[in-house]
Formats: sequence, C-alpha cells, structure tokens
Amino acid sequence: MKHKILIASAFPVLIALSSLTAPLVPKQPTVPLTDTTKWPVSFGFGRQATEAEITAWDIDIRPDGKGLPSGQGNAKTGRAIYALKCAACHGVDGKEAAGVKLLGTPLVGATLTTSRPKTIGNYWPYATTLFDYVRRAMPYNQPGSLTNDEVYSLTAYLLSANKIIKEGTIMNAKSLPAVLMPAKKLFIMDDRKGGPEVK
Ligand code: HEC
Repeated sequence: MKHKILIASAFPVLIALSSLTAPLVPKQPTVPLTDTTKWPVSFGFGRQATEAEITAWDIDIRPDGKGLPSGQGNAKTGRAIYALKCAACHGVDGKEAAGVKLLGTPLVGATLTTSRPKTIGNYWPYATTLFDYVRRAMPYNQPGSLTNDEVYSLTAYLLSANKIIKEGTIMNAKSLPAVLMPAKKLFIMDDRKGGPEVK
C-alpha cells in the first residue's frame, strides 16, 4: 500500500505550505451573493443585433452545401477575376508569385501523389469549404468584398485549375456540393464513443 503512505505524508506538507503563503494574499472582503433579480433591465451599453447584421455574419456553408446562396460562375470568368484580385499574392498560376513568399499554401498544383504541403487538391475534403473560405476571408486585404457570382467563379476556376472539375462546369448551389474532392477518401467519420479506441 505504498500510495497510501505517500498521500498521508503529502498532507502535512500541503498544510505547511498554505499556512506559509496565506499571509501574502491580501484579505478579500466577503461579498454577499448578489440577487440578480434586482439588477436593472439594461446597463446602458450594447444593443440588440439587427436582422441585417445577423444575416451579414451568418454566412457559414456546410459540407453538404447548406447555406450556399443563389448565383453561379464558371472557371473562365473566375480566371479573369483571379488575375485581377488574387494573383498579386497567390501568383499568376496559383503556384506562387515570384519573389513573394506567401504564408499560405499554393492554391494550384499538389495532387494526392505529392503529399506536402496540404492543399485544396490533396487535403480539402469538401468543395463547399472553398466557397465559404474565399467568401469570408479573401482577398486577404479586402475580405467580404466579393459578390456571390464572383465567389462561384473563383471556386470553379480553382477547382478546374486543380483538375477536379472540367473547365466548362458551372458552379452553383446544386453543382458545387456534388463535386467529389480527391482527399475525401482520406477522411473517416470519427465514431469513437470515448475510452481507449484509437483509429
Ligand atoms: C493580399 C494578399 C492576398 C490576396 C490579394 C489574396 N490572398 Fe488568398 N491568401 C493570402 C494569405 C496570406 C493566405 C493564408 C492565410 C492563412 O493561412 O491564414 C491565403 C490563403 C488562401 C486560401 C487557402 C489556401 C489553403 O490551402 O489553405 C485560398 C483558397 C485563397 N487564399 C484564395 C484566394 C482568392 C480566390 C483570392 C482572390 C479573390 C485571394 N486568395 C486573394 C493572401 C492573399
């Protein structure tokens, strides 16, 4: 019963330590538990978010496409927008601008056979994430500035440049969730129930 002895002997040490440190902590006045029912309805700051504000923030798109807006785009239009709004940072062909070492990974190129770095082509399991990400985060210096049609076109261009869809395929709320990403098969559902199971 070795552990019992250890626990028993640790007690006096802890007590000794706390009695040593206790005088260093300033004594707090005892505050009675406040009765929150007597608080005012408002403290005079903040306000209810408007429907328009909530709508502007509520832009997440689920893997199955739930949340995708109306609109559409294709790779040809997307390439033109890309040249204008993305190439400065991501390079003319999405590989990397000369002399620019971008923090992000290349947008075009790496397939399943080249495992690093993790990219749209070899790591993203859902095409819908591309729409969500570009719409909420890009261009890096002006997020939120793209129209839905522009985002559909850019999504189509990046998927086509990565050879995931054909160049002429129209991307919209119906066709985008149907795109099967090469990396989808690398992911499995985590159905562990707790405990030591490891996959
Ligand atoms: C001012 C520079 C800049 C511009 C312009 C820009 N990006 Fe980015 N982009 C970045 C940076 C930096 C990251 C990495 C961000 C991070 O990892 O947090 C990134 C990341 C990305 C990613 C994620 C890549 C990955 O695999 O993780 C995508 C997709 C992307 N950008 C698309 C676009 C598109 C489309 C446009 C044009 C509408 C665009 N970007 C314009 C700087 C830029």
